[in-house]
Amino acid sequence: MTYALITGASRGIGLAIAQELARRKFNLLLVARSAPALEQTARQLATEHGIQTDFLALDLAETGAAQQVYDWCTQKKYAVQMLVNNAGYGLSGSFEKHALAEHTDMMRVNMTALIELTYLFLPQLRQQSKAYILNIGSSAAYQAIPLLSLYSASKSFVLQFSRGLHQELKGSPVSVTCVCPGSTDTNFVDRAQIGEKGRNAAKKVNMTPEAVARQAVESTLAGKTEVVTGFLNKAGKFMAWLLPKGLVEKAAGSIYE
Ligand SMILES: NC(=O)c1ccc[n+]([C@@H]2O[C@H](COP(=O)([O-])OP(=O)(O)OC[C@H]3O[C@@H](n4cnc5c(N)ncnc54)[C@H](OP(=O)(O)O)[C@@H]3O)[C@@H](O)[C@H]2O)c1
Repeated sequence: MTYALITGASRGIGLAIAQELARRKFNLLLVARSAPALEQTARQLATEHGIQTDFLALDLAETGAAQQVYDWCTQKKYAVQMLVNNAGYGLSGSFEKHALAEHTDMMRVNMTALIELTYLFLPQLRQQSKAYILNIGSSAAYQAIPLLSLYSASKSFVLQFSRGLHQELKGSPVSVTCVCPGSTDTNFVDRAQIGEKGRNAAKKVNMTPEAVARQAVESTLAGKTEVVTGFLNKAGKFMAWLLPKGLVEKAAGSIYE
């Protein structure tokens, strides 16, 4: 029996991806820190869709977390056919405002855990007749963003790694897709401590996590390389490419002042 493993499945985009995949009859393995939320979702989706589900509550910022996820799957004999690296968050404000440990924790969740999980699960994914890696990037990947500098850099990392790996794995059963959402109505702004100006800007263009999840799953199953969700975010990516970098960065950073 094969499974889709989703990190950050306790809420927001990850939860919506779990719901979307459940509708398509994927068995699910849900990972995040919030055990009660994971347990409830696992039970509900199993009952509603007649699928197998399980969950593992752990902090992906901890050293060795990805190995723990892998060992848990091995012990339970869960074969992963789809790996969804969705867990992630931002920290807004000046780079120096946050403690170094806060930055390194964010880097571990956004980048290190994604890399380690990908590395550990790849041999197993290669054994499937068709397998998928879905990495959640961000529209923040397309330009540097002052006052959200490290987050945008971490998402550029996710995007470039995903694109490279997609090419490396051509001809294998594994396809890699990077989905880059723009503002989405989740807990993201609270966790990132984004101020009033940023919140108001986000509200005007927010997509629902369900709409993002639908596009993410569809494009993953279609084997796409890179997808920006929503027309406005696609237009934003084009403008970031077209306009002088300094201008784009000033405009992007002004949201977080
Ligand atoms: N919302 C947006 O505007 C937006 C835009 C572009 C990209 N994204 C990306 O979309 C992804 C999902 O974010 P979201 O918007 O759905 O935010 P969210 O509602 O805050 O959800 C984040 C998820 O990640 C999990 N997570 C956070 N820290 C974790 C840790 N240390 N260990 C394990 N799990 C952890 C959270 O679960 P627990 O708290 O239970 O651990 C939660 O399930 C992120 O990669 C984010 O960067 C979001």
